[in-house]
Amino acid sequence: MNPKRVRFMDTILRDAHQSLIATRMTTAQMEPILEVLDDCGFESLEVWGGATFDSCLRFLNEDPWERLRIIRKHVKKTKLQMLLRGQNLLGYKHYSDDVVEEFVRLSIKNGIDVIRVFDALNDLRNIETSMKSIKKYGGEAQCCICYTISDVHTDQYYVELVKKMEQMGADSIAIKDMAGILTPHNASKLTKAIKAVTKLPLEIHTHATSGISEMTYLKAVEAGADIIDTALSPFSGGTSQPATESLMIALEEMGYETGLNLQKINEAVAYFQNVKQEFVDNGLFNPKVMDIEPKTLIYQVPGGMLSNLLKQLKDAKKENLFKEVLEEIPRVRKEMGYPPLVTPMSQMVGTQAVMNVISGERYKMVPKEIKDYVGGLYGQAPAPLDSDIVKIVNGDNTIITARPADLLAPQLDQFRKELKDLAMSEEDVLSYGLFPAVALPFLKKKHDPFYDVVEQIVEVIL
Ligand code: CO
Repeated sequence: MNPKRVRFMDTILRDAHQSLIATRMTTAQMEPILEVLDDCGFESLEVWGGATFDSCLRFLNEDPWERLRIIRKHVKKTKLQMLLRGQNLLGYKHYSDDVVEEFVRLSIKNGIDVIRVFDALNDLRNIETSMKSIKKYGGEAQCCICYTISDVHTDQYYVELVKKMEQMGADSIAIKDMAGILTPHNASKLTKAIKAVTKLPLEIHTHATSGISEMTYLKAVEAGADIIDTALSPFSGGTSQPATESLMIALEEMGYETGLNLQKINEAVAYFQNVKQEFVDNGLFNPKVMDIEPKTLIYQVPGGMLSNLLKQLKDAKKENLFKEVLEEIPRVRKEMGYPPLVTPMSQMVGTQAVMNVISGERYKMVPKEIKDYVGGLYGQAPAPLDSDIVKIVNGDNTIITARPADLLAPQLDQFRKELKDLAMSEEDVLSYGLFPAVALPFLKKKHDPFYDVVEQIVEVIL
C-alpha cells in the first residue's frame, strides 16, 4: 500500500514575514540560506506577492524582480510560488488585460513556477486573463478560493466554483483562509466535498490567529488535502502560519510521508532564529502579532481588521462605539451581498460600518470605493445587494454587469510613455505601472544614485 502523502509549502519568504514583520525581510537576509531551503523537500516556496513587491520598492530600496532572480539562482529544485490578486495583480484596482498578461509573462520569465490566483469576490471573470496568461507562458495555475462564511457560502457554493476553475484549466486548487476562520470541522467537510468532485491537488492556506490552525490542517489532511501552507518556526504562529517542523513531526508519526528533511529544516530554522532576533532587537517584531484572537471566530472578522477598526475609532475619539461597529459589520456585509472580508473588501466594509455608526445615519456617508463596488466596478458580489441600499448609494446611475476589465483600454503603452528612458527594462515598466508612487523614486535613484541626495541633506538640516 502506498503511504499516505502530504506536501508542504513554506511561507517564510512571503506570508510569514508579511504577517509578522510587515514584509521587511531583505534579500540579503534570505540569500545565505536559499540553497538549504532548496534541500528541505518543500513542494514549493512562496516568495512573492503584493506586499513583498511593494515593500521592496517602498522600504528596502530593492528591485523586487532582482530578488526573484536571486532566489531562482539558488533554488533550483523547489518550485517558486507567488500570490496574484487576479485582475488587480498586486494592487487594489483592476488593470487592463495587456498589463495582466505582461506581468504574468515576466513573473514566469524571472523564475516563478506556480501562480496562485484569486479574486476577492470569487468572481471568476476577474481571474480569466491571468489564467489564460499563466497557461500561455507555461506556468502552473493554482486557482484559489477566498474562504468566508455566510448564508450563501455553503460547501456546494465552493464545489461549484471548483468545477468552474477546473474548466478554466486550473492545475491545482487552493483554499485561502486569510482570516483564520476555517475551523477543523468545516475544513474536513469542505475538503471532502471538493475532493469528491475533482482529482486536482488541493492546498489549504490558513493563519494561526485564532489558535486552531494545526487542528484545521490535521482535519483537512485526514479528509484528503494534498498540500498545507506552513512557516518555519521562527516566523510561525500568531498572524502567520503554524510551524512547519511541528506539523511535519505530528503528521509523520501518524504515517504520512512528507518528503521533508528535518536536518536541513533545522539548519534553516537555526539561521532564521538569528534573523528574527534582529527584528526583535530593532523593534519591528511587535509581540502583539503573537496574540491568540478567538474573537476572530466569534465575529468572523480578520484579526487585523478588528485592530484597524479600533484604531479608526480611537482616532475619532469614539472607541466607546466599538461594540456598535462590530454589530454593524454583519449588516453592512449582508447588504453588500456577502463579500469575503479580504483586502480590499475588509477595509471597505469596515469603513462603511464605522461611518454608519459615527454619523448616526446609515449610508449618509459613503466612501468612493463602496460607490464603485455598488456600481459593479469590482465585479459580481456573491449574493444580490440590498436594493434599498443600492438606491441610496448609487441613485440613478447604471450598474455595470460586464467583466470590469472589459471597460479598460490597454494601459501598457501609456506606462512606457510616462516612464520614457527611466525604464531600463520591461520589468521596470511593470513596477511603475503597479506602484507608480514608490517605483518612480526607486527608478530615479537607480538611474542616478545621487538624485535625491540634496533632498536628504535638506531633510537632515531641517
Ligand atoms: Co495568508
